[in-house]
Amino acid sequence: MLKAVILIGGPLKGTRFRPLSLDIPKPLFPVAGLPMIQHHIEACTKVSGLNEVLIIGAYPKNDLAQFVQEMSSTYGIVIRYLQEFTPLGTAGGMYHFRDQIRSGSPTYFFVMNGDVCADFPLQEMVEFHSSKQALLTIMATEATRQQSLNYGCMVLRKEGEVAHYVEKPSTFVSTLINCGIYLASPEIFQTMADVFHANQQQDHIMQLCYNGRDPAHIAFEQDILTRLAGSGRLFALPVFRWWSQVKTAGSAIYANRHYLALYKQKQPDRLASTNKNYCHIIGDVYIHPSASVHPTSVVRGINCPNVSIGPGTMIEPGVRIREAIVLGKAHIQAHSLILHSIVGTGTSVGEWSRVEGTPCDPNPNKPFAKMENLPLFNINGKLNPSITILGTSVSLAAEKILLNSIVLPHKELTRNYKNEIIL
Ligand code: GDD
Ligand code: GTP
Repeated sequence: MLKAVILIGGPLKGTRFRPLSLDIPKPLFPVAGLPMIQHHIEACTKVSGLNEVLIIGAYPKNDLAQFVQEMSSTYGIVIRYLQEFTPLGTAGGMYHFRDQIRSGSPTYFFVMNGDVCADFPLQEMVEFHSSKQALLTIMATEATRQQSLNYGCMVLRKEGEVAHYVEKPSTFVSTLINCGIYLASPEIFQTMADVFHANQQQDHIMQLCYNGRDPAHIAFEQDILTRLAGSGRLFALPVFRWWSQVKTAGSAIYANRHYLALYKQKQPDRLASTNKNYCHIIGDVYIHPSASVHPTSVVRGINCPNVSIGPGTMIEPGVRIREAIVLGKAHIQAHSLILHSIVGTGTSVGEWSRVEGTPCDPNPNKPFAKMENLPLFNINGKLNPSITILGTSVSLAAEKILLNSIVLPHKELTRNYKNEIIL
């Protein structure tokens, strides 16, 4: 029997995802029509013998209750949310809930960072892990030399054994990086117990919790992976399929495109089609069944590659949308254009208006380049060019232009804006 643990963190951070994370926990933000971590759950359900998924985080239980219930009934496996009383780090929560993870004696369990997206190679990891009799297997990929510093980096010995592991090194170590997806054997809890007891002892001696952290805080990367490197039981499986972090709103558009492309490959019926949706569709598009696309669009055509349209959204004739996520109950009025943007729930875009952002894809000229997860502002205090985000229930008047801007919820915009945060 196998299990999976999805780490989703808590509401305190994720600032680069604002204002989108103000109304909905970041792990539930819809990408290609599904909450971000539903893609993880779906990948887990395809692994033979996996019948339980535990989501661990510091969000209040109520924020996830409905999602957990829906997932259990959709996939028919046990799915539970375990709430940390305080942020315990990437391994502290797992150690705290170790009895729940170990119950039923799973052979192995996956550990998945909730803020990554990928064509998850879970079955391959099971085969690799059992053939090596590993304690822990890390999904790894290549990055550029410069970008590798933002990730966990590792050096391999023969046959995938990890000789060195450094989390976010300050100088170059290796271009092979940690993808935040692991397969662990339950004996890993012994290593966590050793770290936990060492931390407790250290806290006792110092009589303070350093950094104001809970003494039960354990970082999977620094405390466990670094310790296991070189022991002969830590392995990495390099994978060259699509993988990315989802840290910024811009990376959600990138993830959207790749998940839609995966639908095309594996579940084409999930994508909208010209016949099914009575409008002209070009490229990969997800349209929620309850969204209404104006019938005249059949004639005029809606041209929208890499677009997800949420429930209850209304799209009027002549609209053009590309590289965008439109959340639920939005109203996109006639002849408006939306490019490289995210439109929040209940937001209205006026007729003949233009909403446009700057794409922030990985550099296509550099092999293995990843998304640059830039902060909102550059060192000169200016807004970094990014996708345009319209928060919840924003209203943009007709015939206006909104470029590279971030609009907080409930704003009424009656003029043009460029490179601004509208508070
Ligand atoms: N439950 C819980 N509790 N989850 C947490 C906590 C916590 O206290 N802290 C972080 N997480 C979750 C986050 O939500 C995220 O899904 C994951 O654990 C990783 O957290 P970060 O601390 O944000 O790490 P990172 O994304 O910068 O780096 C990690 O992922 C990279 C790949 O995306 C590291 O594992 C890197 O080595 C790795 O390269
Ligand atoms: P900032 O770095 O604050 O701009 O946002 P971010 O999205 O880049 O945060 P980060 O990469 O550090 O973390 C990603 C996710 O992990 C966020 O959604 C957080 O909810 C979560 N997270 C990170 N650290 C912690 C932590 O110590 N405790 C909890 N509960 N969650 C965390």
